[in-house]
Amino acid sequence: MEALLSFERTGRGVAGRLTAALRTAIEEGRLTAGTRLPSSRELATELGVSRGVVVEAYEQLIAEGWLTGRRGSGTTVTSAGQPHDASARDSFVPAGPLPLRPGIPDLGLFPRVAWRRAYESVLTTMRDTDLDYGDPAGPAAVREQLAAYLRRVRAARLAAADLLLTSGAAHAFSLVGMVLRAAGHRAVAIEDPGSQGIREQLAHALTVRPVPVDEEGLDVAALARTDVRAVVVTPAHQFPTGSVLSPTRRAELIAWARRTGGVIIEDDYDAEFRYDRDPVGCVQGVAPDVTIYIGSTSKALAPALRLGWLSAPVRHLAAIRTKRRSIDLGGPVLEQHAFANLVGSGAYDRHLRRARRAYRIRRDALVAALETQLPGLRIHGVAAGLHLVLDLPPGSDDVAVAAAASRAGLGPLALSACRMVDGPPGLVLGYAASTPDELAAATVTLAAVIHHPPSR
Ligand SMILES: Cc1ncc(COP(=O)(O)O)c(C=O)c1O
Repeated sequence: MEALLSFERTGRGVAGRLTAALRTAIEEGRLTAGTRLPSSRELATELGVSRGVVVEAYEQLIAEGWLTGRRGSGTTVTSAGQPHDASARDSFVPAGPLPLRPGIPDLGLFPRVAWRRAYESVLTTMRDTDLDYGDPAGPAAVREQLAAYLRRVRAARLAAADLLLTSGAAHAFSLVGMVLRAAGHRAVAIEDPGSQGIREQLAHALTVRPVPVDEEGLDVAALARTDVRAVVVTPAHQFPTGSVLSPTRRAELIAWARRTGGVIIEDDYDAEFRYDRDPVGCVQGVAPDVTIYIGSTSKALAPALRLGWLSAPVRHLAAIRTKRRSIDLGGPVLEQHAFANLVGSGAYDRHLRRARRAYRIRRDALVAALETQLPGLRIHGVAAGLHLVLDLPPGSDDVAVAAAASRAGLGPLALSACRMVDGPPGLVLGYAASTPDELAAATVTLAAVIHHPPSR
């Protein structure tokens, strides 16, 4: 290993330099997919650095997707820059319309007629000057409409001036990472298990640190034990476990932010879809002074729109706006206006009601099929969202199960693929994009895969 890794081992920033050296070795093919790396202790001894340096480098590269770390099989190189199992690793990687794939709505429900009407109306009424370069935060009229919607539906406490339109949540995370770095942050905490995509977007600028999640959501006490001052949370429906941040934890999280000068980055990614319980307002509505709020139309309409938004306390928003201008001068104004028109006409609410009804039926169908085909395996996170989590028997290799399911034409995501730290195995199963019959058939196939566990 020593011969493969050339980097300066003394002075500050050794972990960052080791991370870069390992990343380059993978990128250049000197460390190939499947290579098992030495344990952190062995590598530290070989390189003459502290073990903590190697642990930090491994954790960062796991967050970025270059390495995978699993108890028993050690730390292994994934295919360079490619997921080790494209279908199973990441809800951001397009995997086609496979049954049980999480992370996508039913694209067949996209309100094409209403969207065309909205777009036509925008084209008809728009002034020529609106087609100029505009505010990098997006047109004020669109932000007005969105602010009113978020106040009404998510109990957000914000005005048009607090919002910046983005190309989806992913873009918002990248911008926020860069701006926090410029403001002096070096690390960001993230729920574990959590979204691999978000980890990758933040890892462009910051070191990503895992904080555990339980049935009450993020473990705020564990967060408070770190020196990190920014944290990403999915309070309304934790991704992927589906837990809801409990009232106690919400209060603790806000108190943590106010006490430490910390920033809460709230990902409200699938908040529109709630089935059995009362709406949970966003954290931003209670603590706008410490919360950066991120939302998107990817689950509500379609990921291809690349339409999202963020709101931030003014000290961060100004920097985000400047950064956005310097990167791409702003987003697609016609689509942004069409979206505002859809919201203003009531067509967006109508579409969401229709989608919610369909998804509820599909969720019930999947739960019933799982209870029949796989009785005894626990299901979590069914009250909201577009997916649920199925526990696998202790000791199962969920990555291998997901890979076998993928070979059988299904698209489940292994829970381990969402983890930075080892934990119990499970599968994240999407139900929004399949009919009840398709879900029933997919569950029969899945049960056969689980009953005959594959070897990797
Ligand atoms: C946890 C989480 N947040 C947000 C998003 C939405 O991202 P985007 O708006 O960039 O499509 C996703 C998409 O899969 C997600 O899994």
